[in-house]
Amino acid sequence: MTDLIARVRDVLPAVRADLEDLVRIESVWADPARRDEVRRSAQAVSKLLSEAGFDDVRIVAEGGAPAVIARHPAPPGAPTVLLYAHHDVQPEGDARQWHSPPFEPTERDGRLYGRGTADDKAGIATHLAAFRAHGGNPPVGVTVFVEGEEESGSPSLARLLAAHRDLLAADVIVIADSDNWSTETPSLTVSLRGLADCVVEVATLDHGLHSGMWGGVVPDALTVLVRLLASLHDDDGNVAVAGLHQATAADVDYPPERVRTDTGLLDGVDEIGSGTVAQRLWAKPSITVIGIDTTSVAQSSNTLIPRARAKISMRVAPGGDAGEHLAALTRHLEQHTPWGAQLTVTPGDLGEPYAIDASGPVYDAARESFRQAWGHEPVDTGVGGSIPFIAEFARAFPEAKILVTGVEDPDTQAHSINESLHLGVLERAATAEALLLARLGGANGSTAL
Ligand code: BES
Ligand code: MN
Ligand code: MN
Repeated sequence: MTDLIARVRDVLPAVRADLEDLVRIESVWADPARRDEVRRSAQAVSKLLSEAGFDDVRIVAEGGAPAVIARHPAPPGAPTVLLYAHHDVQPEGDARQWHSPPFEPTERDGRLYGRGTADDKAGIATHLAAFRAHGGNPPVGVTVFVEGEEESGSPSLARLLAAHRDLLAADVIVIADSDNWSTETPSLTVSLRGLADCVVEVATLDHGLHSGMWGGVVPDALTVLVRLLASLHDDDGNVAVAGLHQATAADVDYPPERVRTDTGLLDGVDEIGSGTVAQRLWAKPSITVIGIDTTSVAQSSNTLIPRARAKISMRVAPGGDAGEHLAALTRHLEQHTPWGAQLTVTPGDLGEPYAIDASGPVYDAARESFRQAWGHEPVDTGVGGSIPFIAEFARAFPEAKILVTGVEDPDTQAHSINESLHLGVLERAATAEALLLARLGGANGSTAL
């Protein structure tokens, strides 16, 4: 086992160089102009996995983004472990606000900055490092699955799974796409929220009107939309939509002062919602307005706006059903549209939440691997974000044990400007994964399965 720890350290510089090459590819699937980049990214991932020693590597797609499946067959009697990550990334946002170019990996103070350095190209790097540390011949079967449209809600994942079910079947599924408690203490993620989103459009007129001639008698669509969006929360910022599910949060003391340090909430700005931080983040639904289309201030004139739309993103607490939540939101919108305005709700992505009972020998092996790699026990936490892959694969392989790990930390700023990976976290996460593969393969006399 100590040998393995040293071997991870040995392979890490090359893995980091490979990670940097991946970050240079602008694999933003949500941007139609960069879909070739996503294809290039799948090819790069596939090449890295082939070179690492996987003998069956393929790029697959079912009408959506290309994913990569690589297989190392299980030695007789050994279990198969599926290692998950995604190679698509979020759009970079305003490039001028980055301190270094978003797609040029740059190290500062032990962190590697760049879009996807953490979410989730570091997940790919973790799997590569663990596999290479085993000299390309771990004592378990290993299937790597790297999807290319996670950040777009994984719309073709169900079809990929149906088409390649036999290739993807596994006893243990390790997801490297989540957060850690800190750069020194790992998390074992035991619950994730789901997601349901939609675009809501309101119309009051079929053309704009002079706002002086008709203002005060005829409603404008933007005022309608703003009132409708305001109805989604009560005055304390709790979600005001009826019929949504609430769960119980993992038993973790989340220090309230961490909210300010981790988010950069501006002076004087209140938190919203009631309940502990952990409850609100992990076990209650939330609703956010993530975009709006209307006349810009620069283009505004004294005109009543005839139609306006917004995208609403809702998080679903573990145990809830994403489709039912979208239906509840739609009903709320229908019932709260003021002044008889015309309403259209266009459903968007659905991703189911997931909760894990992290007990039993596989989780014991994971905790022991974490303890050895990080020097600390992992904290069982929930996360507020979503990974639709998990519920989808849990349904397909109900016997599989699912382990949600990751390489993010509280300073990662995933999805935002200046995303970064803590290089120490990458080493510890890769070490823990390499040790876990050894344990699942029966090292140290352990019989995890
Ligand atoms: N890696 C995140 C999920 C995540 C977020 C894990 C926070 C742990 C903490 C993932 O890449 C992600 O961003 N997922 C999307 C999914 C959505 C498009 C269905 C999300 O949560 O918005
Ligand atoms: Mn991710
Ligand atoms: Mn993400």
